[in-house]
Amino acid sequence: MNLFVRKPISRIVDESQDGEHSLKKTLGPKSLIALGIGAIIGAGLFSLTGIAAAENAGPAVTISFMVAAVGCAFAGMCYSELASMIPVAGSAYTYTYATMGEFIAWIIGWDLVLEYAVASAVVAVSWSRYVLSFLGDFGIHLPHPLTSCPFDPVPGIINVPAVIIIIGISLLLIAGIKESANVNAVIVVIKMAVVLTFICVGLHYIKMSNYHPFIPPNTGTFGEFGMSGVMRAAGIIFFAYIGFDSVSTAAQESRKPSRDIPIGILGSLAICTVLYLAFSFVLTGMVNYKDMRGDAAPVATAINLTPYPWLQMLIKFGIIGGFTSVILVMLLGQSRVFYSMSRDGLLPKVFSDIHPKFKTPWKSNLLIMVLVGLCAGLLPISQLGHMTSIGTLMAFIIVCAGVIVLRATKPNVPRPYRSPFVPLFPILGILVCFSMMYSLNRETWLRLVVWLAIGLVVYFTYSRHHSRLNQK
Ligand code: ALA
Repeated sequence: MNLFVRKPISRIVDESQDGEHSLKKTLGPKSLIALGIGAIIGAGLFSLTGIAAAENAGPAVTISFMVAAVGCAFAGMCYSELASMIPVAGSAYTYTYATMGEFIAWIIGWDLVLEYAVASAVVAVSWSRYVLSFLGDFGIHLPHPLTSCPFDPVPGIINVPAVIIIIGISLLLIAGIKESANVNAVIVVIKMAVVLTFICVGLHYIKMSNYHPFIPPNTGTFGEFGMSGVMRAAGIIFFAYIGFDSVSTAAQESRKPSRDIPIGILGSLAICTVLYLAFSFVLTGMVNYKDMRGDAAPVATAINLTPYPWLQMLIKFGIIGGFTSVILVMLLGQSRVFYSMSRDGLLPKVFSDIHPKFKTPWKSNLLIMVLVGLCAGLLPISQLGHMTSIGTLMAFIIVCAGVIVLRATKPNVPRPYRSPFVPLFPILGILVCFSMMYSLNRETWLRLVVWLAIGLVVYFTYSRHHSRLNQK
């Protein structure tokens, strides 16, 4: 058994085309950009911006958004190079299989559960909060035991709305990739309209005094204002950018992946970066950062300062839609990564069985639905958002390293998209992503280590003995 056996790129690409297990190729560049935006704009922007401004960076949270965008741009270029070269569903997991061998690939595949499955559960819980508040506006109140988990401060039985959204989206994903992409596209239009409306209306209610001081002085504690605060805020709001990489998990379902996947990844990232900078600048100009402490709905606070309180409803509706598409693309990404791991024998075969009619990995979708649904309904999962960030940053670092390794070991494999300035850009990507990882707290690091340790147990007891590459 060779822990570091690498999978040849030609073989990865050949396998992805074999009949019985193949996925339908229907996505074009617009659908891919929409998938990226669908996954990106969500709970991070609407809930974390205010908190990061109040507690860490002040109005300079806009600079934090820039720092996180730079890290994401370097990683996005690396993802684009690898995805155009190896256009298969496994994304970072498969790239690592080709560059650093099976063992590290397993670690990344396992780590991606933190990004995709945990994020969908976390966002499902936020989704349910917004839906309750939206229904409350119409005088509809659901019983507390059915809207809270047993570990909430006032314990409930199960968070039913969170479970329902996970079930609904999973069934949509089973019905087909094209159907899912169409629903996503509609939601993306609504949520972009909401963000743009907020920016355009809010611009007129900015008070310049709110920008002074732009970077409040350090309070003496690391991570509270000053440059260390700007960096810590970057680590926190990084969550808002997560998702552009999930476009790469749709590579096998793209009509022309070598051209369109880089367009999807970099296009969605660029659009969201511009929106985020404008959004955070307007928000911190409207509401003083000191007034946003502990405020998980700063947009509502800002809208109350305008003469258009009816906008609240519209924005809430857009936010609910926005969260829905994040869950959709994250669950899509999770099923595609498990599909690839299962085809390599590292997970049981049921994860790669394709539905004869819908051409989707339906059993995988169902199993993920059960696992994520249980977590969202029964666990205090919303506290685990930082785990998604640390897991994703780790994947970004490995992908950046993968580009450097493959340029050295496989210089002649065609690369339809080439990341500029290799190895400088990937190295900068690694540094920026690591500094954001470093700024996350010790508990999050500990949880990451525990999660990876569980992964090692699964690898050494199951996956290693079933690995198709190692059996040959
Ligand atoms: N970027 C996604 C969000 O903010 C995960 O909800």
